[in-house]
Amino acid sequence: MEGAIAGIVRLLGTSLKNRGLYPASHPLVRNPVEKCLAELRPFLLELPELALTITDGTLVLEGVPIFQLSSSLELFMARLGAIGVPAVIFERGLAVEDLESFVRFLHETKEQGLPAAEIQELLSHAGVRHIRVTTTEEEEDDFTLAREIYGNAVGVVVQALQDVRSGKAPNGADCDRAVREMNGMLSRNRDAMLALTLIKNFDEYTYNHSVNVSILSMAVAESLSLPEQERVNVGVAGLLHDVGKTQLALDLIRKPGTLTVEEFEEIKKHPEEGYFILGKMSNILDKTRYMVREHHMRFDRTGYPRPEPEYRVNHHSQVIAVADCYDALTTMRSYQKARTPQQALEIMRKLAGKSLDPDLVLLLERSLGVYPVGTMVRLSTMEVGVVTGSPEEGKSNPRVAVIFDRAGNPLSVPGAVDLSEADPSTGKPRRVILGTVNPLLHPTVSLGGVVALASA
Ligand SMILES: [Fe+2]
Ligand SMILES: [Fe+2]
Repeated sequence: MEGAIAGIVRLLGTSLKNRGLYPASHPLVRNPVEKCLAELRPFLLELPELALTITDGTLVLEGVPIFQLSSSLELFMARLGAIGVPAVIFERGLAVEDLESFVRFLHETKEQGLPAAEIQELLSHAGVRHIRVTTTEEEEDDFTLAREIYGNAVGVVVQALQDVRSGKAPNGADCDRAVREMNGMLSRNRDAMLALTLIKNFDEYTYNHSVNVSILSMAVAESLSLPEQERVNVGVAGLLHDVGKTQLALDLIRKPGTLTVEEFEEIKKHPEEGYFILGKMSNILDKTRYMVREHHMRFDRTGYPRPEPEYRVNHHSQVIAVADCYDALTTMRSYQKARTPQQALEIMRKLAGKSLDPDLVLLLERSLGVYPVGTMVRLSTMEVGVVTGSPEEGKSNPRVAVIFDRAGNPLSVPGAVDLSEADPSTGKPRRVILGTVNPLLHPTVSLGGVVALASA
C-alpha cells in the first residue's frame, strides 16, 4: 500500500519537476499526470475523496505515511509547504485537467504562506475543480463554531430581555463580547455565519430576529468597509434594536392582523424605550444608542420617531433598518408567510430610495448574493440543490450541492455541481437555476448541515 501511494504522489512530483524544464504540453509533464490519475482512480471508486497532508514533516496520504522520499517527492512537499497548503484533497470526479492545473499552480505560484481560503480561490481560478486544500472536518468545524457563537448570542439576548423585564440594566459587556465573536466568525467564514440567519424559529422569533439583524448589519457594515470598532457598534445596535419592545405587552407584539391606531402608537414607543434602556447599560457607546433610537426613522425621513427637519440621522442607523426589514420579510410571522430571500430583496428594491437607503439595499443584496447561502434551488435538470457558497470571483453562479435527484429521492451525500459546466451536445450550461424551492416542502433537510457537508 505504501509503495502504491508513494508512487502516486511521486508522479505528481515528477510532473512538477519536469514542468521546470519543459513546456506544459511536453509528454514528460503530461504523462506522469495521466498515470497518476489512472492510479488514483481505483481508490476514488472506493472513497469519495483522498486526503494528502503534511504532518510533522511527513507526507501522509489517507493516513498512510510516505517515508521513502525521492527528489521529486521532496520538491512536491517543499512547494506545498512554501505556499502554505495545509492538505490536498482529491475528490471523486478528478480529471487530468485538475491535476495539470494543480501542478501548474504549484509551479507558478510565487506567494508564500497563503491562508487556505486564498489558496482555494486561486485554485478555482486556475480551473481546478476536484482538488481542495482544506479538509471537510475543518469546514464542519467552522459551522459547529458558528452555530455555537450564534447560540451564545441568543443566550445573551434572552438574558438581556429578562433583565429588562425584571427592572435591571442588561450587561453591555456580554453583548459586546457576543457581537465581537460573531464579527470574527463573519470574517473567518462569512458563508457559515450568514447561513445561520436563514434558520428561522417561529417560537423564538424575537431572540433569533435580534441575532439575525446583528449579523446582517455587520455583513453590510463590512461591505461598507467600516473599521472593526464601527462594525461592532453596528452589531451591538442590531442585537439590541428591539430591546424597547420588552416594555410592551406580549400579546401586542404577537398580535396577528392590523393594529388599532392606539396599539400602533404603543409600538412606536419602542425605539425611544430602547434608547433609554441602552443609556443605563455599561459598555454602550452613544452612537449605538442613537442607532437603536433611529432604526425606524426611514431614509425619506418618514417613520418614527419623526425627525425634526434639522435633525441629523446617523447614517449607520439605516444599516440596521435594512437588515431589520430583510429579516422580518424572510421570517414567517403569525400574520405573514415567509418570503424567500429573492422575494424579500425584490420588495426591498421597490422600497429603495423611499423608505430604505438605496445604496445600502444594493450592498445587502451584494453581500448576500442573488442566491444567499442556504437557499434551496430547483435546477433545470429537475434536481433540487442547496446553495453552499457565494460565487467565485468573476463568476455569477453560486456554488450548489444537489440533495435530491430528478425523481425527488434524497442523495445520501450531497453532490457539488458546477453550474458553469457545459453540456457538450448543445454547448449550453448543463444545469441552470430555475428558481427557489420552499424549504418547508423538505422539512427534514438540515440546510446548515448540508452546507457544512457540501461546501468545497
Ligand atoms: Fe423595531
Ligand atoms: Fe426589528
